[in-house]
Amino acid sequence: MTPAPATPAAETPVIELIHVALRFGEKEVLSDVNLQVNARERLVILGQSGGGKSTILRLVLGILKPTGGNVKFKGLDVGRMGRRRLNKMRQKVGMIYQYSALISSLNVRDNLALPLEELTDKTPSEIDDLVMEKLTMVGMADARDKMPSELSGGMRKRVGLARGIMLDPEVILYDEPSAGLDPVISSVIDELIIELSEKIGATSIIVTHEMESAFKIGTRMAMLFQGRVLAVDTPERFRDHDHPVIAQFISGSTEGPILEASK
Ligand SMILES: Nc1ncnc2c1ncn2[C@@H]1O[C@H](COP(=O)(O)OP(=O)(O)O)[C@@H](O)[C@H]1O
Ligand SMILES: [Mg+2]
Repeated sequence: MTPAPATPAAETPVIELIHVALRFGEKEVLSDVNLQVNARERLVILGQSGGGKSTILRLVLGILKPTGGNVKFKGLDVGRMGRRRLNKMRQKVGMIYQYSALISSLNVRDNLALPLEELTDKTPSEIDDLVMEKLTMVGMADARDKMPSELSGGMRKRVGLARGIMLDPEVILYDEPSAGLDPVISSVIDELIIELSEKIGATSIIVTHEMESAFKIGTRMAMLFQGRVLAVDTPERFRDHDHPVIAQFISGSTEGPILEASK
C-alpha cells in the first residue's frame, strides 16, 4: 500500500470548521471549534461521551447548521448550501454510523442498493455488480442474501462499511466504528478502515473514545474538550502530550482536570 502523499500547505482543506459554535436551546455543545482536514488524511477526533463528537459529524453533513462560525466542504460553506448542492455534497460523503443502522426488513443486497437506487440512474444489474464489489472489499460477499438479523455485530459493521462506500465517497465519516465490538473484531474493523481509506483514496474523520483504535487508525488526532479543540497533532505527539487534559484522556487516569471539570 502506498502512503498518502503529503498535502501541500497551500491546498484547500477538504473539510474546515472555522470558529464553529453550536447550541441546543440553552445548552452550548460546541463553543469555538477550529479544525482542518486535509486530503487523504485520517483525522481522529477524541473526546468525552456527550462532548459533541457526533454533532461535529452532523455539522459536516449539513444535517445541523452551526449557530456560529462556518463549516466548509472543499471551500464551500455547508451551512449556506441549498438543497441541491447539499445533496450533491452528501453523495461525496459516506457516513458510517455507530450501530450499523441497516434496515432490518431488507436483506444485505437491498440495504446496499438503496443509496444507488435513490441517488443514481444505475440499472439493477449495474447495482448488483457494485454491491458485490463493495461486499468483496469488506470480506462479506457470502452475506449478500442474508437479513441483518442473521449477522453478528462485526459482520453488520462490515456491511455498514460497505454501505458507506457504495457511492465511492471522497470523504468518509466514522462515528465510533468499534463501539460494541469485542477487541479482536474491533482490531479487524480498524484494519479494514485503514485499508478502505487507502484503496479509495478517501479523506476520513473518525470519532472515537477508544484509544487503541485511535492510535492505530489516525494519521492525525484532535482532542475535543468543553466545546473546543484543545490540540491537533500527530499520534506520536499525542502519546506523551503535555496538555493535562490530553495526557489524562490518553492514559484513562481518574486523576486530572477531566473529572474536576465535570464536578
Ligand atoms: N438534537 C439534539 N437536541 C438537543 N441536544 C442534543 C441533540 N443532539 C445532541 N444533543 C446533546 O449534545 C451533546 C453532545 O452530543 P453528541 O454530539 O452526541 O456527543 P458525543 O458524540 O461526543 O457523545 C449531548 O449533551 C447531547 O445530549
Ligand atoms: Mg456520539
